[in-house]
Amino acid sequence: VSEALDYHRATNYLPGDWENEEADRYAGEKPRVFKDYGDVERLPLDGTVAGPLLRDGAGVVGSQEGRDYGGGTIHWRAYSSAGGLFPIEAYVAAADGLYSFDPLTPGLVALRDGDARADVAAAVGAEAGTFVVLTGIHSRTGWKYLERGYRHVWWDAGTMLANLLALAAADGLAPRLYLGFVDEELNAAIGADGTSEQALAVLALDGGMEVGGGSRPGSTAVPGGPGGARYPLAEAAHASGALASLDAVRSWRAEPEGDEPVLDREELARAIQRRASVRKYAETQLPRAEVEALLAWSEAPIPADAQRVVRQAVTVAAVEGLEPGVYDAQLNLLAAHAERELREQAWFVAMEQDHPKRAAVNVFQLANLGHVVETLGDRGYRWAQLEAGIRAGRLQVGAFLRGWGAAASTFYDDEVSRWLETDDSPLLLVAIGPRR
Ligand SMILES: Cc1cc2nc3c(=O)[nH]c(=O)nc-3n(C[C@H](O)[C@H](O)[C@H](O)COP(=O)(O)O)c2cc1C
Repeated sequence: VSEALDYHRATNYLPGDWENEEADRYAGEKPRVFKDYGDVERLPLDGTVAGPLLRDGAGVVGSQEGRDYGGGTIHWRAYSSAGGLFPIEAYVAAADGLYSFDPLTPGLVALRDGDARADVAAAVGAEAGTFVVLTGIHSRTGWKYLERGYRHVWWDAGTMLANLLALAAADGLAPRLYLGFVDEELNAAIGADGTSEQALAVLALDGGMEVGGGSRPGSTAVPGGPGGARYPLAEAAHASGALASLDAVRSWRAEPEGDEPVLDREELARAIQRRASVRKYAETQLPRAEVEALLAWSEAPIPADAQRVVRQAVTVAAVEGLEPGVYDAQLNLLAAHAERELREQAWFVAMEQDHPKRAAVNVFQLANLGHVVETLGDRGYRWAQLEAGIRAGRLQVGAFLRGWGAAASTFYDDEVSRWLETDDSPLLLVAIGPRR
């Protein structure tokens, strides 16, 4: 019995589901996608080694009035987020206090003073100069995606973490990612209730520094977003993956498979800054060697406390020197298909959307979830979704590093498996193509 697998099966999309469920969507006002800290003082991001990562990897990169649901202002972020609902929050545990990242200002809001790292270290069972703790607020993304929004929480954390890990490595901070921690203790350490807002992952950084704020009168955070709708299937799946003690954490945990690759800081930051979901592509082919290099980065080790469980399959429509078909991540041909059929299938399985049809390649993140849960328990389900998000995030940034465009897509789960002739579950999909 696995609550995570039950959750996954119950939230698979079949053709027609989206339309049938529509009545429940968009109920009530759109949840705020930022916490509301009022006019409490913001401290500069440069006070901590985590600041530049959050600014460049998770900040607001542009705003447009009238473009949000209901005509409000939408704030675009450095990472992609399904439906632009941004359910992820970031906290910094530094030597002189606990801070919340406010992407709007941008700046840090002091939540409490004292060395906040000790509580996080105790929950994680590892030390660091600075910790960044990511949390998820399902009700934000649930407003559109309902129960399935729990998957989106992990994917969005993954696209954000792809940025943070790469920037941290470029900054020489030797990033380590922890999925294993004592849930109750970590939630308590950052002031999350564990239900409406829950700790997802911890990024440990080598460097220290004091932000220089500490807590000040009136600086208690006013949470925004949480409360609201509840999602019992997702809550059950999350709860059954919880770890109750450091012993449980240690027996769950694995050694990282390797270090985060180090890229040129400036080029990386520029690509992240420019990234946006690109859904229209030129009809030219992509160069094979560059596609290989992009896939190699996406496939590279993630410095996490779990071994990889995700594999990637690539549908190739337009790459120099490759016949159209389904390939593995090393570009070995698995099954040839006529280009026209390939593009039609991409359109259909991607919930009848055009960008995967127009793309030169589509990269699917897949996992054998039965095996994942057998070996890693229900917590493995969290990791599978997050790993997919990180690899998908690397693909999007890597496409921009090469001057291409990319966009993630949702899909009809079983149709993807059928088309790719696999029993593995699709977790995410990224369409990639040359810019027009
Ligand atoms: C997990 C995930 C799934 C997505 N699915 C779709 C999709 O099915 N169709 C689409 O057009 N865009 C999709 N997107 C892209 C988002 O709409 C986009 O990231 C968001 O609107 C923010 O815009 P930006 O990426 O241009 O910054 C997805 C993004 C993520 C992270």
